[in-house]
Amino acid sequence: MSNSRGARRRILIGVGGGIAAYKVCSVIRHYTEAGHEVRVVPTRSALRFVGAATFEALSGHPVSTEVFDDVDEVAHVRLGQEADLVIIAPATADLMSRAAAGRADDLLTASLLTARCPVLFVPAMHTEMWEHPATAANVETLRRHGATVMTPASGRLTGTDSGAGRLPDPQEIALLGELLLEQADALPHDLSGLRFVISAGGTRESIDPVRFLGNHSSGKQGFALARVAAQRGARVTLVAGSTSDPGDPAGVDIVRVGDARELADEMTKRAAESDVVIMAAAVADFRPLAVADAKIKKGADGPAPIELTTNPDILRGLVQARDAGDIPASTVIVGFAAETGDETGGVLDHGRTKLTRKGCDLLVVNAVGDGKAFGTEDNAGWLLSAQGSETALPLGSKTLMSSRILDEVRTLVPDNRQP
Ligand code: CTP
Repeated sequence: MSNSRGARRRILIGVGGGIAAYKVCSVIRHYTEAGHEVRVVPTRSALRFVGAATFEALSGHPVSTEVFDDVDEVAHVRLGQEADLVIIAPATADLMSRAAAGRADDLLTASLLTARCPVLFVPAMHTEMWEHPATAANVETLRRHGATVMTPASGRLTGTDSGAGRLPDPQEIALLGELLLEQADALPHDLSGLRFVISAGGTRESIDPVRFLGNHSSGKQGFALARVAAQRGARVTLVAGSTSDPGDPAGVDIVRVGDARELADEMTKRAAESDVVIMAAAVADFRPLAVADAKIKKGADGPAPIELTTNPDILRGLVQARDAGDIPASTVIVGFAAETGDETGGVLDHGRTKLTRKGCDLLVVNAVGDGKAFGTEDNAGWLLSAQGSETALPLGSKTLMSSRILDEVRTLVPDNRQP
């Protein structure tokens, strides 16, 4: 991932005393390689897991844990004040408790009190500790104080147990950090209690056992939406077709599908139990009429033509199901439109027509072609609503675009469904 927006920023990475401290080395690496200035402030117990020399070598700066080191430089005030972003990982139960109480008994907690930039806590601990009411209350307090607290991933923990409390992948932490840098603000925790189903990636329509018709969708935009919605508190199911390796978002249930009809089945089934449905997948409009049982051979006369038939329009089908009462009327339905523009109209004209044709509540319109949108890190476009509003989405990361789309989505969720 490149630092596509160019500016060199100051990142303070606070490391807590947990076994996951070693994974934070990749996060430090991510930011130094993107050209940022990184300062690492471990707690005393963090240094029992990873030595100071590792953090010093990775960041290119000396490391200390105490307020009374380098007193002449007043590090406990300066490091926090000068930071553009603070990431605390792993945020242990003890560290979050001290931060929530406003303690300043080491260099890291003292720096947190002087930081005025976005602060991202990345918790990692055993499930019981994460679920304890004392930890939940500290998380709540930190959020109220303006910090972003990531939802931990689920999976194997230290030892033999598994459950919620794993440190999310370093890539996930870095992506969320990038978003906070870009929007220079905390991520609101405003979608808790809402259920989202989001489709992403391309469908693959089989021709024979080894070949398929596919498309260039990377799945990045749909994955970014799932990632940001989950971190804003939503319960998210991501129905993913083929993708070019975007990492699995933390705290999201992922269901894999192959072709358009499988995607249609999953979306229809799950939409009935969701507050928000987002169709970000690139669905093949056509599929081979028949799938050959055996690999099609070249033959002496060249390729035989492949006859195609039309796939269901999933988005339109979901809107019709809502009209028919099979999906609650309060469900918000969002579509995407990838447009190139042609002699009959520009990208936005085609978007307006598509919004009417699909009947969804919101349509995100992207310009594609010439390397735009497909597989790129950045995106731009418009957000068209059924009520007639048209909002420009300026060029930014797909994560930032997701955050803006979700701001608008949230306004459409009826009051009685709002968390
Ligand atoms: N879509 C869908 N089912 C299809 C095709 C598209 O649900 N069979 C959804 C996409 O996920 C997207 C929206 O419809 O949210 C628009 O997709 P797009 O490919 O831009 O539109 P099409 O309906 O295929 O229209 P056209 O090819 O004429 O532009």
